[in-house]
Amino acid sequence: MSLPPLAPYPALRLRRLRQADWIRSLVRETVLTPADLIWSMVVHEGEGEIPVASMPGVSRLSVKGAVAAAVEARKLGIPAIAIFPHIDGARKDARGSHAADPDGLIPRAVKAMKDAAPEVGIMCDVALDPFTDHGHDGLIENGRILNDPTIEALVTQALVQAEAGCDILAPSDMMDGRVGALRTALEGAGLQDVMIMSYAAKFASAFYGPYRDAIGSGKLGSGPIENPGDKKTYQMDSANTEEALREVALDIAEGADMVMVKPGMPYLDIVQRVSETFRMPTFAFQVSGEYAMIKAATGNGWLDENRAILESLGAFKRAGAAGTITYFAPVAARLLGA
Ligand code: PBG
Repeated sequence: MSLPPLAPYPALRLRRLRQADWIRSLVRETVLTPADLIWSMVVHEGEGEIPVASMPGVSRLSVKGAVAAAVEARKLGIPAIAIFPHIDGARKDARGSHAADPDGLIPRAVKAMKDAAPEVGIMCDVALDPFTDHGHDGLIENGRILNDPTIEALVTQALVQAEAGCDILAPSDMMDGRVGALRTALEGAGLQDVMIMSYAAKFASAFYGPYRDAIGSGKLGSGPIENPGDKKTYQMDSANTEEALREVALDIAEGADMVMVKPGMPYLDIVQRVSETFRMPTFAFQVSGEYAMIKAATGNGWLDENRAILESLGAFKRAGAAGTITYFAPVAARLLGA
């Protein structure tokens, strides 16, 4: 799109519209609100809060703490919470079997949160990595991540989450074909109102480091044979953008209601292209490493914390995101005057 001809300086002085707060707010093109935020949260099986060392200000919450947080989200005008589990090592195995347990941590947390604050949407990650002893999102055989058997396990996990009351299933595993399989299974189970937000363009990223600390999925093996050391055979190459569009197109065709780009800030170009190309609700995930970077700099006094938080979240909205999944949600909502 080319701009209409502009009056030349000095007839046009762009600084005129920047001279005071009132005029800046009148001409502002995008406005961030708490309704743009999905609160990313980690729950654990025990009591009390356990701080996550690499994410200052974030703690693993007990189910009781998560319930209190849901009530707080409602008060703050945060529409939804994305929960991630920290599972005891003793419950993990190579197949992530505990993901299928209807009495597991996530189903229990979802039920309790929906009971206490039914107006707040709950989103669950569909992936095996919190439950596998090797930390991968899928099943492994001979050093390879198996696509189709993994999908079967994901469908079982997702139905357990949906039966517990989860509103949005968010497959983050990056197996091919999983969105279609989830949609078919939901229809078959009479759960047609459950939404799917696919991690459609999810990149193999260094910025997930603190998350693995938070959920205790540890370091991946050094592979490549029994235990591949990275997720590059299923998560996308960070160099690719055309492929991101293919991933999104497929997930929409398979029945995704909303799509996500992840990580967020290093991939704003993808967020913008996806939202402009598909005109579907497009979300960005400001991941653990982005949180950690901002907190590390502000903790050292190198950045102004409140401004850095709001500027980073505003960038997603400007790029075309319908909303952002972020660990800053409660802090940002308070800053926004909620
Ligand atoms: C796992 C999953 C990851 C995140 C969300 N779901 C990590 C990964 O793929 O290795 C990252 C979240 C974050 O870094 O905040 N399926």
